[in-house]
Amino acid sequence: MSVHKTDVLIIGTGIAGLSTAIQTALKRPDLQITLVSKTDKEECNTRYAQGGIAAVWDLAEDDPEKHIADTKDAGDDLCNPLIVDIVVKEGPERVRELIEWGTRFDKDKSDQYDLAREGGHSENRILHYRDLTGAEIERALLSKCSTLPNIRILEHYYAIDVITQHHMGYMVTRVMNDIHCYGAYLLNLQDLRVETHLARVTVLATGGAGQIYKATTNPVVATGDGIAMLYRAKGHVENMEFVQFHPTSLFNPKGESPSFLISEAVRGFGGILKTRDGQEFMHKYDERLSLAPRDIVARAIDTELKTRGEDYVCLDCRHLDPQAFEAHFPTILQKCRSIGIDPMKEMIPVVPACHYFCGGIKVDEFGRTSIHQLFACGECSSTGLHGANRLASNSLLEGAVFAYRIADEISKMADYIAHNEAIPDWDARGTTEPREMVLITQSIKELKEIMSYYVGIVRSNVRTKRALDRLHLLFMETEELYHSSTLSPQLCELRNLITNGYLVTRCASIRHESRGLHYNTDYPDKNSFLQSTIL
Ligand code: FAD
Ligand code: SIN
Repeated sequence: MSVHKTDVLIIGTGIAGLSTAIQTALKRPDLQITLVSKTDKEECNTRYAQGGIAAVWDLAEDDPEKHIADTKDAGDDLCNPLIVDIVVKEGPERVRELIEWGTRFDKDKSDQYDLAREGGHSENRILHYRDLTGAEIERALLSKCSTLPNIRILEHYYAIDVITQHHMGYMVTRVMNDIHCYGAYLLNLQDLRVETHLARVTVLATGGAGQIYKATTNPVVATGDGIAMLYRAKGHVENMEFVQFHPTSLFNPKGESPSFLISEAVRGFGGILKTRDGQEFMHKYDERLSLAPRDIVARAIDTELKTRGEDYVCLDCRHLDPQAFEAHFPTILQKCRSIGIDPMKEMIPVVPACHYFCGGIKVDEFGRTSIHQLFACGECSSTGLHGANRLASNSLLEGAVFAYRIADEISKMADYIAHNEAIPDWDARGTTEPREMVLITQSIKELKEIMSYYVGIVRSNVRTKRALDRLHLLFMETEELYHSSTLSPQLCELRNLITNGYLVTRCASIRHESRGLHYNTDYPDKNSFLQSTIL
């Protein structure tokens, strides 16, 4: 069994992981930083971000207080005001750094940044690079990492579990059970051996879990591994019921997965939601029409589809300037044309798809989890910024802001933490079962169906109860398989997906109200006394 040592182990190479690595490396060139990616280093949600990154950039036209108000309004009274303040106010400086590290954002004819608008924003404040903002940020961050000698990246390494130990302590009134993290067990996907990676500090930057649903904009890597790892290690997770469905993914009758996103920026640019027969409908749901926050728009579309018995609604862009549209949305145009739709002549068929996890690993304002020496950053974390519904383009911003804060903490604490040399090797067991892959594939399919039918945009008590019963069975079967089979990333992902499905459903069953992204027909009203759901 091989044992490796590093100072800082960061699992994930999206905006959260890469930014944490760069910020730490810049503050502490003496620390050895190891980044881990389960596939190619650029494959992650960040790479697919289209719309952009929100930041108050033009102080003559915008105001941080407006961005704060928009974020809280979208979050439906569940945002943590301290965190909203931090992210909005520190955000522009982090965006400036992204630019300094080589990120390109589009400019207008007068060489000013072209600030776009998305749902729920009261001003134009989204910096973007065409409709490929995430790919551009990922490129620039990877390039910056390559210039820093104390960062190394392990690709095709799958983190199975964080390494933790419980230390019992006694206070006058109660027994303390403190959990400490000492690194992670990584499955080397080249030789399928498990390696022990000891670290003084570990950071989970593993992204969301969109893959628990049938229709999702998230790539296949989004299996919620970090959230499941932390929950297995007995850390705290919160607000998992707030799963954001993006209103407009491209309707594809062939069930292409992941679903291709039609950016909200298209609506910010003037695209209008209509039914198949060309009728506008958003005036029935919100005065902000097609640019209302996502929870409202996605639920409106869901209602229209169910009452009309149709498979999709449409986004009408036929009235927009074709040249400007092509300059801003070249990828979207190309994708639509590749399936025979010309958005300048026909309406684009769209449906909601699972897009983002507002909840996740509970962290404080420095990204600290409930486990010592373990941080979480980016979509896998729950900072309190998004509340019950994330404001568009606030996710990349949150990742960049918290990366800086975590790096600051790490650089101060690292000297006081020693490696734990008494960590046991990974306990290898099980045999290879040729039937295993079929069982895994089938169980993933079942999980997606359970989550999509019973814990989707509209929920009810009977649906969540049904989901919990079925998930329990799936969990028991998978645990049996896990303990009798050779380890594979697919099997680990299945376990993690089931855990995430359970966490979403359990949190949904506890929240007896409707708020933001969580809508339960048995409790259609908001209950202002309810706060975060913590498991
Ligand atoms: P990710 O970028 O998803 O990175 C996760 C990393 O963790 C990957 O490197 C993965 O390999 C690694 N990983 C996971 N599990 C393991 C494991 N077990 N072992 C090893 N490595 C592991 N947000 C915005 O703010 N603006 C937008 O315009 C926008 N557009 C979007 C468009 C699309 C199509 C999608 C899907 C999302 C969009 N979002 C947008 C949301 C945003 O992109 C994500 O929330 C954000 O990029 C998440 O970054 P992250 O670093 O936390 O995770
Ligand atoms: C989009 O471009 O619509 C996605 C923006 C986001 O998820 O924040």
